[in-house]
Amino acid sequence: MTEMLPTFEECWEAVGRRAAGNEYQYSILYEELVKARKRSGHFAEVGAYRGASGKMMAMLAPDKEVHLFETFTGLPEPSPLDTPSTEWERGSLTADQEDTEQFLADCPNIRIHAGLFPSTGVCIHDHMFALVHLDADLFEGTRDGILFFARRLAPGGVILCHDYNNSIAPGVSKAVIRYAKLLKLSKRHIGEFYVLLQKSGGL
Ligand SMILES: C[S@@+](CC[C@H](N)C(=O)[O-])C[C@H]1O[C@@H](n2cnc3c(N)ncnc32)[C@H](O)[C@@H]1O
Repeated sequence: MTEMLPTFEECWEAVGRRAAGNEYQYSILYEELVKARKRSGHFAEVGAYRGASGKMMAMLAPDKEVHLFETFTGLPEPSPLDTPSTEWERGSLTADQEDTEQFLADCPNIRIHAGLFPSTGVCIHDHMFALVHLDADLFEGTRDGILFFARRLAPGGVILCHDYNNSIAPGVSKAVIRYAKLLKLSKRHIGEFYVLLQKSGGL
């Protein structure tokens, strides 16, 4: 039987009204999800906000678990490595947990982990991942996401990190450059602000 994959337009129709970014950003994520859905391993996201990108992940891989990490109290305190940044402070981008859970209720493969990552990651310590979407905006969340998930990538698995080279999120690029080098991950800049990290030799 032919499998019907939701088109990008269908996904955008379902999630666009709650999106944190623009249609172009989500189209890049869509393309990477389509490739990743064929690999073994689950999906995860650090920084789920109001659930838009998480829902797209779940729509494209109903057979995978999709683990979403979100404080639901907004951004944690930025570190000195997040300066100079004009936009964000502790508590920016707060999403309502109940409202987000309702929006995601029709995706039975989604698991929501409320609280500050990486302490909320313990329950998936033995999981392997086909794709991890890092969208935490700050140095520490990006660093912790890379450190936690790099050794939990399934064969061919990728970490797709948003806000790389974005001047309003300087901590993200610093974390990517520092920890990709330390963990010997290859990096490929795609789209405007995405970078794809993978175990070297795997790209
Ligand atoms: C840009 S928003 C994510 C947008 C979302 N991926 C989307 O496209 O719909 C960034 C989110 O990361 C969350 N966040 C940042 N650091 C975090 C951490 N260490 N643990 C959990 N959530 C975090 C913030 O609360 C915020 O809601």
